[in-house]
Amino acid sequence: MQLHICENYDALSAQAAAEVIELVKRKPDAVLCLASGDTPKLTYSVMAKIATDQNVDFKRCTFIGLDEWMGISPDNEGSCHYFLHHYVFKPLNISNDHIHLFDGLSANPEEECRKMDKIISDTGGIDLMVVGIGMNGHIGFNEPAESFGQYSRVVDLGESTKLVGQKYFQQQTSLTTGITLGLNHLLESKKAILVANGSKKADIIRKAVKEKITPHVPASILRNHSNSHVILDRAAASMLNQER
Ligand code: F6R
Repeated sequence: MQLHICENYDALSAQAAAEVIELVKRKPDAVLCLASGDTPKLTYSVMAKIATDQNVDFKRCTFIGLDEWMGISPDNEGSCHYFLHHYVFKPLNISNDHIHLFDGLSANPEEECRKMDKIISDTGGIDLMVVGIGMNGHIGFNEPAESFGQYSRVVDLGESTKLVGQKYFQQQTSLTTGITLGLNHLLESKKAILVANGSKKADIIRKAVKEKITPHVPASILRNHSNSHVILDRAAASMLNQER
């Protein structure tokens, strides 16, 4: 795992965006999995701007959804669907046949999971994942647990995820379960980038990066990935030197 500490959120976002652009220039049909959430918003805006300015074409890329809230419609502004269309697919002009997202309204979420696993294996695997980290160390909706492992699955959301998740919604919303890629997908991706900013992430970043690799801090598994990068601003990195 490589650690990159940037001066601020702008610099972190510019670096993460540059990594995605570099890949798509080199491999125009790359398979990308991009998280939603507050952290990568600026990364995607910068990425879309560079794509326009430098004529980098994402139209041949395949996009794989990382996760979705179960029971939430794609039209809901808090859904991962809505986020990705707004920040990524519309600005980059991606056609629907290149987009594979979990259906949070599916009557058969287990089948939805197997479908996603097959799509990923049919593409030959994910080239790049850009992920955030939850306050409890989750990646996607892989909540703290007794074991890592797993491919796509339906999960009961942790208390902090239900609580923090309210920030994405206009009104109080019942969040109980999520559907997510598993940590095996992360480990098998050719490259993984975790972005985190702000002092509120400093403690969980310290746990993920410095303390033992444990499923109780799912993001710590990135240290078992041969090509993983953690890109932080100074505030998120501020507890890395503290002894516990
Ligand atoms: C979103 C996702 C989540 C977020 C994480 C951090 O698709 O998978 O794991 O990446 O909760 O969210 P923010 O960036 O809002 O702090």
